[in-house]
Amino acid sequence: MAKIRASYVCQNCGAVTQRWQGKCDSCGEWNTIIEEAAALGVGGAALRRGTTGRTFPLEDLAGDSRPELRVVTGIAELDRVAGGGFVPGSATLIGGEPGIGKSTLLIQASAAVARAGGRVIYVSGEESTAQVRLRAARLGLAEAPVQLAAQTLVEDIVATLGSGDAPKFVVVDSIQTMWSDAIESAPGTVSQVRGSVQALIRFAKASGAALLLVGHVTKDGQIAGPRVVEHMVDAVFSFEGDGAHAFRLLRAAKNRFGATDEVGVFEMTGGGLAEVPNPSALFLAGRNGAASPGAAVFAGVEGARPLLVEIQALVAPTTLGTPRRAVVGWEPSRLAMVLAVLESHAGLKLGQYDVYLNVAGGLRVAEPAADLAAAAALVSSLTGAALPHDAVYFGEIALSGSVRGVTHTGLRLKEAAKLGFTAAFAPPSPRGDVDGARIAQTAIDSAAALVARVAAAAVETKPVRPHSRPARPG
Ligand code: TYD
Ligand code: MG
Repeated sequence: MAKIRASYVCQNCGAVTQRWQGKCDSCGEWNTIIEEAAALGVGGAALRRGTTGRTFPLEDLAGDSRPELRVVTGIAELDRVAGGGFVPGSATLIGGEPGIGKSTLLIQASAAVARAGGRVIYVSGEESTAQVRLRAARLGLAEAPVQLAAQTLVEDIVATLGSGDAPKFVVVDSIQTMWSDAIESAPGTVSQVRGSVQALIRFAKASGAALLLVGHVTKDGQIAGPRVVEHMVDAVFSFEGDGAHAFRLLRAAKNRFGATDEVGVFEMTGGGLAEVPNPSALFLAGRNGAASPGAAVFAGVEGARPLLVEIQALVAPTTLGTPRRAVVGWEPSRLAMVLAVLESHAGLKLGQYDVYLNVAGGLRVAEPAADLAAAAALVSSLTGAALPHDAVYFGEIALSGSVRGVTHTGLRLKEAAKLGFTAAFAPPSPRGDVDGARIAQTAIDSAAALVARVAAAAVETKPVRPHSRPARPG
């Protein structure tokens, strides 16, 4: 019999303590520790007893190393992030906020693999088989030979998966709903999630099935529950997006079988997730035809992929004692830094203005290379001078006021040229013009040079509108 004793487990990081505490010493979170009955999982009893005394054959390092055959879904944006398809016997965790489209992506992938041949099983712990079938029908996938189950007990799932032909592709949606008989604590607790995932991974390794696990994430982007699950699987992808916009990004946070800088781009449509082979076009789609003050196109890179996006700024006289600084899609601390540099090194006076900055399309930009584009948008809004419509901006601004080079210059310029841009404002490139990019580069080496340039390159200059205070009642 498995020996059961109580222990206290942090639901955030999985750390185990001997007594209850308000704050987890390991991750610093409050009120995350709950009592869980610890049981030894399957195989644990033998471990407890010590050795089984059985021997196993050892293999030579210099043995047969066949190239891996991957399970290719045919959804190029997904296969690329996986490193060219999913490795048989591997486990991949796909995390994302509820409603972002994880189930949709995985039913589409399941249908594609099943149609190409091979046994595909989709286990849902969240929806009934009728609901999954309904969704598949809406997506036009009703005829795909995917086998469905609505189950949450992991021992039964493993037994079912193990009967009949070995499956090629298995989806378990989601790990938070799975529970194991061998573990005493409630479904959704760290012990349950960890134990269930362990059993599923063991099955995948033994059978050679590519296992895809769905994990919900909390608001701050962590996989809900055990962080330890991320260490157990071979790959962790996050599926991100903004509820108000249709685009979705699939990023590899960890991948034992591929690069982690790949990004897959999708658009949520009425007919499911559509691949977006040219994301820059998607993000620039809403751009005004005419140049307007406060907008600058940033030539960015997501992972290894160029992505052009418009950065919008609004600089307006304030009515408050402390002016407002509000940012959507960028780091507030980076905005504060860029504003400070523009004040200290380029002579702009921004203390009397509210500043709003927005990355169009709901994208979150994390690159410091966006500094120059943000600064250009800010200066443009402040002066009322529109930036040239066909120009892109990139470069990192240092606290000294100088503009530093960034990675992937060639990639950024080529993408800009491909989308019809003819000018780039960027840090001086040490190797001169990049081959293949027919685009006029203007070297910007400091924040002050940018301000001078924005004024010089302005296509139309209009005065800042005089600020009118709202009339006070009374
Ligand atoms: P879903 O895949 O259920 O999200 P998750 O599994 O990550 O919780 O996606 C749910 C959302 O996607 C829901 O708000 C409706 C939307 N959706 C579409 O817009 N088009 C579609 O074809 C489908 C199936 C869903
Ligand atoms: Mg779902």
